[in-house]
Amino acid sequence: MKEVLALIEKRKHEFAQLPLFQFLQDTSIDPRERLVWVPCLAPFAMGFAQLNKYDLRQEPTSDPIQAIINKHTYEDDHHWVWFLEDLEKLGLNPSMKFSEAMKFFWGEETYKTRQICHQIALYTFRAEPIVVLAAIEAIEATGNVALSLTSQVAEELQKTTGKNYRYLGKHHFRVETGHATGTNNVEQLIENTELTAEQRAKAFEVVEKVFEVFTEAVNEMKTYTEKATYAQKQSTPELVTF
Ligand SMILES: [Fe+2]
Repeated sequence: MKEVLALIEKRKHEFAQLPLFQFLQDTSIDPRERLVWVPCLAPFAMGFAQLNKYDLRQEPTSDPIQAIINKHTYEDDHHWVWFLEDLEKLGLNPSMKFSEAMKFFWGEETYKTRQICHQIALYTFRAEPIVVLAAIEAIEATGNVALSLTSQVAEELQKTTGKNYRYLGKHHFRVETGHATGTNNVEQLIENTELTAEQRAKAFEVVEKVFEVFTEAVNEMKTYTEKATYAQKQSTPELVTF
């Protein structure tokens, strides 16, 4: 699977150059402003738990690769709790009518972010476990880039607020190793797994798709940061206009 891991590294490097990630590193901007897009992550943060629990996890299994996947899904199926906590800690948890919250969740401004889990589920549906594992490695690579930067912003903010941001901060960054977790020497095991030509082609395809959907979502969030300030997002119940 060496070639697949090399492709992931290449795409990861490109992914790290996206404008939102440059924005996160601009310390001339208030850390709260730099995190104003966080509510837009809701469809992914909430949907990812479901993707792990109901799509990627296949139990029982006698397949050793599927067993690795299953273990990994138990780490990633509960991080949404930290996400909801962080929204409150960031002051980005305004009271609004249920229908308004639904409009935001299902609105045009979060369309690409809603596509992440949906597309990954489609691409991994009935795929061989080794192809699913390639998808997980790509997902972990994107998470590693994003969390390495959000954790720095969260740390800056923590200095003034004293709050521990478990989703955006170091806590999450530490449990997301950048690779499938829960199995010893998993990186070596993945690296040494030989793929057939067909498996390799499918793994390449799924890796490209994972980076494509995350890139589009991250760019969608950057667009959102250009539309309103933290003060507006904090106090305006109508987060989106239709
Ligand atoms: Fe996570």
